[in-house]
Amino acid sequence: MAIVGSSGSGKTTLLSILAGLDLPSSGEVYLKNQPLHQFNEEQRSQVRAQHVGFIFQQFLLINSLTALENVMLPAELANMADAKAQGLALLAQVGLAERAEHYPSQLSGGEQQRVAIARAFITQPDVLFADEPTGNLDSKTGVHIEDLLFELNEKNGTTLILVTHDAKLAKRCQRRVEMDSGLLTEGVLTESLLTQSPLTQSSLTQNPLTQTKVNTVSGDETSANSNVG
Ligand SMILES: Nc1ncnc2c1ncn2[C@@H]1O[C@H](COP(=O)(O)OP(=O)(O)OP(=O)(O)O)[C@@H](O)[C@H]1O
Ligand SMILES: [Mg+2]
Repeated sequence: MAIVGSSGSGKTTLLSILAGLDLPSSGEVYLKNQPLHQFNEEQRSQVRAQHVGFIFQQFLLINSLTALENVMLPAELANMADAKAQGLALLAQVGLAERAEHYPSQLSGGEQQRVAIARAFITQPDVLFADEPTGNLDSKTGVHIEDLLFELNEKNGTTLILVTHDAKLAKRCQRRVEMDSGLLTEGVLTESLLTQSPLTQSSLTQNPLTQTKVNTVSGDETSANSNVG
């Protein structure tokens, strides 16, 4: 699923709340039927370790750790026995087998983002949140990273929820929602109205799904969204 919307509309905030990194000031958030809004930091970090992957816009690799150590970190936090083997396998999948012992400062932007993707997949998360995963990359590297993201997404059966300004990337997702001043709307409506087809318009106006306005911090809708990829 893609979340699109103008700068400052609340996309990163929504992603952080859905992933249990941040708490809403009001409302309820359920991830895998667990009430994140009632959990303390320790409990939320356990849910994250078990179910959630996160790719940040600025990569957020740890500079003092090698590529392999960065990828292994979430696996070690989740007490996975085969962290190193899994880490090496994932680095190979993202085409960085040769770079395992390199530090982030020795890697290009695209390579750092691929390390971040490998890190996000190592715990085989049920849901992967990606905030502008290609926003800082040139278009060629960006497309390569996109392909990788969708490939790993399919291979691992992970639900992928990404924020993007890139219309082409949004179009590759099965579902698009738009964020506007903290409110989510189904992107389908606007997109289909643009096609000017009377048939599409009438079927859309009869479809309650496309008319829903969702408050970003209300529990049921948020948890429903997190199950759609
Ligand atoms: N920790 C915070 N405390 C208070 N307000 C915040 C905090 N973080 C973000 N905001 C505000 O909340 C609004 C939404 O910010 P957010 O980062 O979610 O936007 P965004 O849609 O991700 O924007 P962009 O596309 O520029 O990344 C902004 O007005 C921002 O200034
Ligand atoms: Mg943002």
